[in-house]
Amino acid sequence: MEATGRTALYVCSVLFIFTEVSSEFIHIPTLVHHGIEGKSLLLSVETHFLMDEAEIQGTWSHTKLSGTRTTLVTFTKQAAITDMMYRNHLLFREPNVSLLIRKLNQEDEGDYHLSLNIEFHNKTGLVIKEERTVHVTVDVPVSIPMIQKSPSYAVVEDKANVTWTCSVERGTRVVFQWLRNNVAVGASNRYHFSQDNSTLLISPVRKEDKGTYRCVASNPVSQGRNSRPVELNVYYGPYNLEVNSVQGLRTGEVFTINPGELVFFECQADSNPPNSYVWISKSRNATQIITEGPRLEVRSYRLAQAEEYLCRAFNNVTQKQDEAQFTLVVASLGTGKEKHTQEGGSVSPLAAITVCSLFVISLMLLFFLRKTCHPKRVLMSIYNRPFLEQKRPHRSAGHEDATEDFGIYEFVSIPGKMESAQASCRSLARLESIQDMHTTIYDVIRHVSETPSHSLLE
Ligand SMILES: *[C@@H]1O[C@H](CO)[C@@H](O)[C@H](O)[C@H]1NC(C)=O
Ligand SMILES: *[C@@H]1O[C@H](CO)[C@@H](O)[C@H](O)[C@H]1NC(C)=O
Ligand SMILES: *[C@@H]1O[C@H](CO)[C@@H](O)[C@H](O)[C@H]1NC(C)=O
Ligand SMILES: *[C@@H]1O[C@H](CO)[C@@H](O)[C@H](O)[C@H]1NC(C)=O
Repeated sequence: MEATGRTALYVCSVLFIFTEVSSEFIHIPTLVHHGIEGKSLLLSVETHFLMDEAEIQGTWSHTKLSGTRTTLVTFTKQAAITDMMYRNHLLFREPNVSLLIRKLNQEDEGDYHLSLNIEFHNKTGLVIKEERTVHVTVDVPVSIPMIQKSPSYAVVEDKANVTWTCSVERGTRVVFQWLRNNVAVGASNRYHFSQDNSTLLISPVRKEDKGTYRCVASNPVSQGRNSRPVELNVYYGPYNLEVNSVQGLRTGEVFTINPGELVFFECQADSNPPNSYVWISKSRNATQIITEGPRLEVRSYRLAQAEEYLCRAFNNVTQKQDEAQFTLVVASLGTGKEKHTQEGGSVSPLAAITVCSLFVISLMLLFFLRKTCHPKRVLMSIYNRPFLEQKRPHRSAGHEDATEDFGIYEFVSIPGKMESAQASCRSLARLESIQDMHTTIYDVIRHVSETPSHSLLE
């Protein structure tokens, strides 16, 4: 099975090589030519055999795009006959098989066929036939394209369509391409191209269409030629209005500033042409325009005063406007956050912060208190002295060292119920009598002797 396959492959390769060799008596380097009108074009043919060892006979013929076929030249090694109509138009110098076309015109387009018979002197009777076809187009180079925009003036976003037109004075088979800010523009639901791409309709025009447009014209004989750049200006906005300040403390829409501090607020929005801005104060139940322009300057001494402000941005071309509201709270930021005071319901975020901080502080205090009198620590200290307690069989014995330790022992008196028992944190100072001390120590000794010491530490 495999052997058969291999044989077949071998036969195929031999056949292929044979075909290759047989077709290599002539070679045409270029089978498609893009000629330039008015220039000459050489249909070059390389012969891969010695002319002295063979006789040749052949023709060059032309099939026009319309389909008309004409024999241009009939030749042998020694002579050539050129069609009378083409005598001044073609140049053929036998035995050179190449054909030169002078002053190309549109009529020269089409397919050129070379038919060549070769008979080698040492193999008379064996005629090798070679056939080749070369395709020729004739183009006029493209002149610099001209770009036009309609309407010529700046347009308002969403309210206008823009048509771009690209044209060339000279050039055949021109292909147009469009660039915005040097990036190719493709078709989309708002971008519509004509059949030949020479017009681009943007409908409707949007903010992102703003930019510098160019058209590029090219054809097979001209590299892309660029039109001059033309700007498309689109009026839009305001978008993304926001109020910012480098001073003060910002919490959402609430700015907290120190009393007496001079604070600047900036109002910004994306808009073309630039917005006009007004600042409005809404405090004391009255709305009042304070200032115009993108900047607001505030210096306030009224502590615990929450004031409402509004920045309004207006685009006088698009006739659209946007507003951003914020609250200004005057509070001493430098002397600790607990001192923040608020007034009215409008400062709820600040109130929330204060409550949160108080809660966190309380938690920390609680944690600290628990740490200072944690039962486990005390248990540890007991465990570190197992010898002291376990070596005492009688409750009356060894009282002399107990004076130092009585305060601690009290916590150990409940190790058997460690999980549920809450050790009390009683300070040494609060144990007033020796009687108390005795009782405490007694309890400890009894419990420790009953419980194996290793069970105190899991
Ligand atoms: C055939 O003629 C062309 C131009 O006329 C020339 O460039 C080419 O070298 C010639 N070929 C041979 C084999 O002489
Ligand atoms: C823009 O073109 C759309 C169709 O694509 C048309 O409906 C609309 O009226 C045009 N708008 C203007 C302002 O010409
Ligand atoms: C629109 O606003 C711009 C910038 O704020 C200003 O220069 C221009 O005069 C205004 N135009 C009109 C018609 O109000
Ligand atoms: C303040 O505003 C409220 C409603 O916003 C209104 O009912 C009240 O009359 C106003 N007070 C004054 C003094 O303007």
